Amino acid sequence: MRTPIIAGNWKMNKTASEARAFFSEFIKLIKDVKDIEIIIAPPFTALSAANDAVKDTIIKISVQDMFWEEKGAFTGEVSPIMIKDAGCSHCIIGHSERRQYFGDTDEAVNKKIKAALKFGLVPIFCIGENLKEREAHKTMKVIETQLQGGLTGLSENDMDKIILAYEPVWAIGTGKTATPAQAQEVHKFIRDYIRKKSGDKIADGMRILYGGSVTPENINGLMAEDDIDGALVGGASLKPDSFAGIARFA
Ligand code: PGA
Repeated sequence: MRTPIIAGNWKMNKTASEARAFFSEFIKLIKDVKDIEIIIAPPFTALSAANDAVKDTIIKISVQDMFWEEKGAFTGEVSPIMIKDAGCSHCIIGHSERRQYFGDTDEAVNKKIKAALKFGLVPIFCIGENLKEREAHKTMKVIETQLQGGLTGLSENDMDKIILAYEPVWAIGTGKTATPAQAQEVHKFIRDYIRKKSGDKIADGMRILYGGSVTPENINGLMAEDDIDGALVGGASLKPDSFAGIARFA
């Protein structure tokens, strides 16, 4: 049995005081939620407020990105050591917005995944095709290339710790969710790829999240699919009631 994960990615939203206000409401709404993992990724400037707010709850705090070096002359970057020290447990790596607007390549993503693992952070490794690629029937090829690039050189022990997130770029922030069947098809492809690379035990244990316009209304249909183990939620994670509605999926 894979424990489901509901993760929220706040992107460039919420100040520290807005984060505090979110948690004071959200924590009440998920009080009785059990047997799932809940992760929230606030912006760096709200990490301290978030980590204080979630003490003694099941909620874990993630960052949305990081640099792979430990320290040094890298203006504007944040290192895995700093993130760990700030009390975070997870790191989103390779989100399509990082790839699209900030030039993160598969090679950079691979370095970040390795650095996260080295310092005991759990990578939430994102992959997904854009609309042009889907329409050209290149989805699986794109997914395979991103998996290959991102996972190069990882040991079985490393593979065992990773969380994957399939996020079709055309579904992110557009209100256009992949249908459960469309998502399942790619999730199955991803799990089969992991099975070939790392064997049954790791493939069967790997949590693969779906991301792209997930809402309280569509979460149940997605979670009913065999290979969908949770969700990475953007817009709907910003409001306590909608994110709680997703975390409380039946
Ligand atoms: P969305 O974003 O839920 O707003 O579509 C998902 C994501 O980018 O992780």
